[in-house]
Amino acid sequence: MKQYIKTDEWNIIEEGFHPEDQRLSESIFSIGNGHMGQRANFEEAYSGDSLQGSYMAGVYYTDKTKVGWWKNGYPEYFAKVLNATNWIGINIVIDGESLDLAKCQVKEFRRVLNMKEGFLHRTLIARLPGQKEIRIDAKRFVSMTVKEAGLIRYSITPLNFDGECIITPYLDGDVKNTDSNYDEKFWTEVHKENSAEGAVLTLKTKKLNFRLCSLMKYDLLQGGEKSQHTAELIEKEKYVGCNLRLTLKQSEETVLYKYVINVTSRDKTEDELIPYGKSRLEEVYQKGFDAMLREHSAAWSKKWNESDIAIEGDMSAQQAIRFNIFQLNQTYTGEDERLNIGPKGFTGEKYGGSTYWDTEAYCLPFYLSTADQKIPRNLLIYRYKHLEKAKENAAKLGFPKGALYPMVTMNGEECHNEWEITFEEIHRNGAIAYAVYNYVNYTGDRDYLKEYGLEVLIELSRFWEERVNFSKARNSYVILGVTGPNEYENNVNNNWYTNRIASWTLEYTLEVINRMKADSYPAYKSLEDKLSLKETELVKWMDIIKHMYYPVDEERDIFLQQDGYLDKEQCLVRDLDKQNLPLNQHWSWDRILRSCFIKQADVLQGLYFLQDKYDLDTIRRNFNFYEPRTVHESSLSPCIHAILAAKLKDKEKAYGMYLKTARLDLDNYNNDTEDGCHITSMAGTWMSVVEGFGGMRVVEEKLCFHPVIPDNWKSFSFRIKFRGNLIKATITKDAVIIKNENGQKITLSVNGTDYTIDSEKAIQI
Ligand code: BGC
Repeated sequence: MKQYIKTDEWNIIEEGFHPEDQRLSESIFSIGNGHMGQRANFEEAYSGDSLQGSYMAGVYYTDKTKVGWWKNGYPEYFAKVLNATNWIGINIVIDGESLDLAKCQVKEFRRVLNMKEGFLHRTLIARLPGQKEIRIDAKRFVSMTVKEAGLIRYSITPLNFDGECIITPYLDGDVKNTDSNYDEKFWTEVHKENSAEGAVLTLKTKKLNFRLCSLMKYDLLQGGEKSQHTAELIEKEKYVGCNLRLTLKQSEETVLYKYVINVTSRDKTEDELIPYGKSRLEEVYQKGFDAMLREHSAAWSKKWNESDIAIEGDMSAQQAIRFNIFQLNQTYTGEDERLNIGPKGFTGEKYGGSTYWDTEAYCLPFYLSTADQKIPRNLLIYRYKHLEKAKENAAKLGFPKGALYPMVTMNGEECHNEWEITFEEIHRNGAIAYAVYNYVNYTGDRDYLKEYGLEVLIELSRFWEERVNFSKARNSYVILGVTGPNEYENNVNNNWYTNRIASWTLEYTLEVINRMKADSYPAYKSLEDKLSLKETELVKWMDIIKHMYYPVDEERDIFLQQDGYLDKEQCLVRDLDKQNLPLNQHWSWDRILRSCFIKQADVLQGLYFLQDKYDLDTIRRNFNFYEPRTVHESSLSPCIHAILAAKLKDKEKAYGMYLKTARLDLDNYNNDTEDGCHITSMAGTWMSVVEGFGGMRVVEEKLCFHPVIPDNWKSFSFRIKFRGNLIKATITKDAVIIKNENGQKITLSVNGTDYTIDSEKAIQI
């Protein structure tokens, strides 16, 4: 844990230069716009410890899998989000001395992520080794209105000298991934152009031939006027830049505006890349930095209007929730249905930028409530488009009928190679089915089921049918050899969560089939024919539902995480010496596997998803048993606990869990934010407030609230979009105010009572 970020309502602020935490800050202060993302690396050269990261959404490399013991069924490659052309670079040399903060005395360092307007701002004074002092003021953003555009305003003011300066804006594609399996570089040069006005650099990736064309233009001003400078072009392999030489005058500000366009072959053909990039660049350049920033801030303002959560009386919680919402909106804008949300978004290389079950289990609710309906729909269509690959994946593992979605993917193929996850963490299929339910239940968009959803559900159900086996000994269906959400247990039998979500998938699929048969028979019939679905399959699914085995502990009246869980020595986290935590950094893997400690919500994950099917006492008993055994070493864990604790009206526990999820990165709780922020768990933070403290659920298609407010909050409020309505909920210590900000009249429920609210009217309870 590390608390060095200043608390503020709308800004993330670092004061003082902390080179030892540079990687951490580079993650936290990342910027992105759904198309690209950039870690908070410095523009100028920096020889200190740093993780360079410029990422383009959907541009990846299939790095050959490296394992000691190859097992049949392993994927050939591990997909990696690519560290791409460094487009932010601006080198500064003053009278022969290079500006490198690792070699300077740094004063008044301040880095601010302005979340309201969406830009990164850094100011400092650097004393160079030769005692010359300069003030630096650098502002940058990646535009929310022109997705390919990145803009920088970089200013230098000499404080105690006049001198010669070389300012070098450049594009450098000679970059690598630190997680490259064979230390290989993934980019090759295709084309470059360079002139005193700007440059173009086109690279392509090895293997998949993604092209990235980066273009830059710049303006240099001194004392507010175009500067007098000379330009000297520099070209190296995969590099274009220009040395701009000028004289700096004491106390006079020199400003470089750098305009960049990054366009990829995902969006344009090879022939279009350069002409398109040039016209985009010209457009942005003509508009200028200030006008582009105004447009960008206005786009952020619209986003905030729809997704902000305001908390009164707790600045630290307020800052944290905004940080989470900000990062989510920077990562995924939902315009491109080929994209998804990597666990680290654009803030680091870890998890390869790939799609995990995190999207369906954690991220979907945020986009359902805060974005236009097409955006969560696109997240679902992404999986629909991967259905054929999921069938191939299942076939490869020996299941010829159904579909097994990959645990980790870029294009629908599995790209994760730990057997206990790739082969065994099959519960991911359940989350994908649950997301279909969640989306339809929330939006009422039943057409989605006809066009895409039911087909996915049927193929998932077929997989479960193949994956269960009938145990004569138990006279029930069992699921053997799995890893549940708790990855601190592998190859277990009858993980309660997996069995439950498998059986629930079958139940829901049958329910959808029956309803579609009744309401839209032709649509059902054509799907039945397309998939050659037989009545015998449906009968078999009903039998599995009826005879599925669930491990329980009768004495405690709880669901058992898996067969044999109680054979383990039962210990509680609170009795562990804190020096053991996090376990994954202190204990051998073998010791972790043998212990009863749980990485993340497992039984409780199931009770969260299916909470309307269980009474409060059942949830409470299971919560009270599992929570004290959970170490929350997945960032996805505290949010589920926060929601259930709020439901159980345990405000203190809910608040503690909320803080763990909300400030996970800002306070570096798990000591791993330097690799990147935990983007998918940020959606869990949002859920903790809206579904946890707000108690928001859609039950049988009706919006319901059961609010509780943490003791130290004066009030909190959030907006959600629901079926054409924009609803604002404000919860204070003694009132719940629900406003129907626009849309039709709506009937919703607060604490079990129905209220009808006209458009633009509010109720206070
Ligand atoms: C968690 C998984 C999760 C993955 C990516 C792991 O640590 O155990 O549930 O999908 O991280 O966030």
